Amino acid sequence: MEDRRALIAGNWKMFKTCSEAVETARQLVEFVPDVNEIDVMIAPAFTSLALVNDIVQGSCISLGAQNVFWEKEGAYTGETSSDMLVSAGCKYVIIGHSERRQYFGETDETVKKRIDAAINGDLIPILCVGEMEKERESGETFSVLDKQIKKGLEDFSYSDLRTLVIAYEPVWAIGTGKTATSDQAQEVHLFLRSLLEKSFGAKFSESVRILYGGSVKPNNISELMAMNDIDGALVGGASLNAEMFSRIIHFKHQ
Ligand code: PGA
Repeated sequence: MEDRRALIAGNWKMFKTCSEAVETARQLVEFVPDVNEIDVMIAPAFTSLALVNDIVQGSCISLGAQNVFWEKEGAYTGETSSDMLVSAGCKYVIIGHSERRQYFGETDETVKKRIDAAINGDLIPILCVGEMEKERESGETFSVLDKQIKKGLEDFSYSDLRTLVIAYEPVWAIGTGKTATSDQAQEVHLFLRSLLEKSFGAKFSESVRILYGGSVKPNNISELMAMNDIDGALVGGASLNAEMFSRIIHFKHQ
């Protein structure tokens, strides 16, 4: 098996004012002074990106955004381009999060455009996929994921996607306290890897990082990370608290 570098990513969603974000970032830099064996990222709200960048610069923590628009610039009120995100210090961008799909009309087609913008704008895209509870109950999990992956990554080549990260986030596990069991998550991660192998080849599928997301906490991270095909986590609620997030980052030393 390929040696994939783990990534622990924090999605702060629509939480924290500028001063709160700066304070949490400061604490996190203190709690996580030098993590070398894995990658760490936090994605604050747009308003705090540049401020948090000043704090994390030079540390082992990278900055990410929670969305990106596909045009480079123009009359698109309320949108943010990849160049703007890079200028604020971003290295990563989360794309197609289920909350964007559920509440803001995100589709596989718009996901694809955002991935294109990220790749061309030198940002590492984190593509989120995941099934809803009723889809899992009716046995549609794999077909839903198949569609999200195929449509979201349609027409890209292996080399376009060399930095791509995938986050598997079962919608029923997000913010609910219900985590997929590590076996359930592993089963889906393996399925995603085999899907990616069919479209982009074995070399790609062996090297792509697949994160798990959905109620990841300090007490379940180790079990999830012990699975063969789980390469990290996208953490929502538990990333808002620096001490709790640092315990997740230090999962190997728990
Ligand atoms: P949660 O969110 O950890 O609060 O469940 C995960 C996510 O939405 O990325």
